[in-house]
Amino acid sequence: MKFFVDTAEIKDIEELVATGLLDGVTTNPSLIAKSGRDFKEVIAEICKITDGDVSAEVAATDYDGMMKEAAELVKIADNVVIKLPLTLDGLKACKSLTEKGHKTNVTLCFSANQALLAAKAGATYISPFIGRLDDINIDGLELIREIRVIYDNYGFETEILAASIRTPNHVKECAIIGADVVTVPPATLRSLVKHPLTDKGLEAFLADWAKTGQTIA
Ligand code: G3P
Repeated sequence: MKFFVDTAEIKDIEELVATGLLDGVTTNPSLIAKSGRDFKEVIAEICKITDGDVSAEVAATDYDGMMKEAAELVKIADNVVIKLPLTLDGLKACKSLTEKGHKTNVTLCFSANQALLAAKAGATYISPFIGRLDDINIDGLELIREIRVIYDNYGFETEILAASIRTPNHVKECAIIGADVVTVPPATLRSLVKHPLTDKGLEAFLADWAKTGQTIA
């Protein structure tokens, strides 16, 4: 399973790239607004930090507008992935961009039928939002399960990019279900390494090691 980080904060991306565990980055208009930075500038900077796929979302809602914006965004770097909303215009743009050889990420997916349409439109990634479904008392992970079954039934190559991840448990369940990618906020991504017994065990080993008076290097 690939790990993407869901942020537009350069410092977080740099730190996570340095771990060697990061496969890509996703952004959205809200994350760009939160960064307070120029959209194209920040995407260019992220693309320089990582070779992985970097999702940049269009702001237009009509087909022509999306295609115009996508044409600008793909100029930024080879690893830019065009993020499009799950609407008929978005799917039409997805199909056209796929035919032109560009990578796409169809976002704001909340149903299995929407995911089916995105796969038929040739999306590179589909982004089902787990947390936002949980927020309205619908099981977000169930959506990931349904999409996995549907894509496997027909051999669709569209990758399931589980988004709106809120907890480490979401990450674990996505891995069990077989999501291809999870995009995770930086703090949640860092928290995956934590276990109190790891900390306690390490503390004990270090204390015992100190008693030996030895050094390794
Ligand atoms: O990038 C899309 C998605 O990950 C947003 O998550 O927490 O705003 O629902 P959230």
